[in-house]
Amino acid sequence: MKHFTSVHDIGNPDIALKEAFEIKQNVFKYNTLGKNKTLLAVFFNSSLRTRLSTQKAALNLGMNVIVLDVNQGAWKLETERGVVMDGDKSEHILEAIPVMGAYCDIIGLRSFAQFESKQDDYEEKILNQFINYSGKPVFSMEAATRHPLQSFADLITIEEYKKVERPKVVLSWAPHPRSLPQAVPNSFAEWMNATDYDFVITHPEGYELDPRFSGNARIEYNQEKAFEGADFIYAKNWAAYADPNYGKIISKDRAWTVDSAKMSLTNNAYFMHCLPVRRNMIVTDEVIESAQSIVIPEAANRVISAQVVLKKLLEDNYSEG
Ligand code: CP
Repeated sequence: MKHFTSVHDIGNPDIALKEAFEIKQNVFKYNTLGKNKTLLAVFFNSSLRTRLSTQKAALNLGMNVIVLDVNQGAWKLETERGVVMDGDKSEHILEAIPVMGAYCDIIGLRSFAQFESKQDDYEEKILNQFINYSGKPVFSMEAATRHPLQSFADLITIEEYKKVERPKVVLSWAPHPRSLPQAVPNSFAEWMNATDYDFVITHPEGYELDPRFSGNARIEYNQEKAFEGADFIYAKNWAAYADPNYGKIISKDRAWTVDSAKMSLTNNAYFMHCLPVRRNMIVTDEVIESAQSIVIPEAANRVISAQVVLKKLLEDNYSEG
């Protein structure tokens, strides 16, 4: 694995899961693999879980870690070629990226969709510039269209909690006051479609995801019907994907908030969310505080997914022999 940006880079998900459970049994088993290797974690956007879990995973592997918050203390970056740089942006990303690459061995990147150009977002312009110009292995810590470390942690969590071989997993849109990218639902759908689960997506009309991500999932516009018999409810908000509403909020309907009445329609389902979550918009206090809420173990598994990915990047790019 040269880079990690999606489920397609990890190989067979069953093998990746085996590796995850092996690491979870002893997170320090490979604590010299990253000796004298440096991770640079670059954040264009805010983070709590990704920032901490990725650093912890790198430390467990014996790596050194540097964190750069691009918008706090670094020069403002121009991303377009051909621009006369007479404004507030002091440095071009085409110099900044190879300079960052010179200071580290692996780069983690967080760069959200900007909702200015659907084409730029869905071509992963910033992520691909890091891949093309850093000269180092790059992994996504949530890019414009995917959040693969989150989805891998979600898969680990479902495997840990599932009571039947082929659980019914429901990805449910829920309301939010701000316009949020499709990266988490896209990526979750992509990873669920790589399994044999019974996978359903429910959302109001107009919130259809890019079919390249929703794939073979069953789409159900009636949320209550979708919840019937579910083993896992994965709630998330996202802004519209389809034109002409790309990046826009077209509903804040709180009838879609996940509450106890809806959870009672399920097969005593576990409640999941990637966090941070807006209580009583996405999910009620009662549901997120219930015994069926597994949002904390889900977040804890972010260390494991990051550690599997970093281990593979170290082994495939730096191990001798
Ligand atoms: N789930 C997740 O990626 O959380 P952060 O945005 O806090 O990193």
